Amino acid sequence: MTSAARLQGFLDDCTAVARPEADPSDIVQEIAPLMLRLLAGGADFLRPEHFRADPTHYARNLVHAAADDSLSLFTLVWLPGQMTPVHDHGTWGVVGVVEGVLMEQSYMRLDPEPHARRDSGIELRRGGLSLLTSGTVSTFVPNPDHIHVTGVKDDWQRAISLHLYGRMLSDFHIYDTAAGTRSLIHAKHTET
Ligand SMILES: [Fe+2]
Repeated sequence: MTSAARLQGFLDDCTAVARPEADPSDIVQEIAPLMLRLLAGGADFLRPEHFRADPTHYARNLVHAAADDSLSLFTLVWLPGQMTPVHDHGTWGVVGVVEGVLMEQSYMRLDPEPHARRDSGIELRRGGLSLLTSGTVSTFVPNPDHIHVTGVKDDWQRAISLHLYGRMLSDFHIYDTAAGTRSLIHAKHTET
């Protein structure tokens, strides 16, 4: 099987699993081993443009966007010291590490529910962190938010990760932990 066919097979399997009516926890449980297998077969399904970095910010390179915006797949390229702000996703996600080590620092929201539409009075507390190495797969679901920071520390090597989301992830909330607020931002990516 060619590398392009391996990627297409993965996307076809994910499309079949990610039905709109399915529980996000069931979706990520089914897709996680599919991504593990994809990564175990090597990263040759990625093209050179998927490895593009940006010296000013971690790079988001689009690998696939479903025509109906129900799925999107990106590579994220992290140069030393590049980190996300505190953010959420508004959907489920499956993350696999292609190269290097990626840090994930989770946050818990402590202000009382319901807080789905509240953009201020947000109280966050840092949770644990994970160090994800090459070949590792991690998942999240919006219950109701999954809030975290990911990236690589200043003295670490470049990392590359593969991110599958349950929508076209072109916007998401970023959080100001000191002010207790969040705002919706448009996230740039490069088309490939
Ligand atoms: Fe994230």
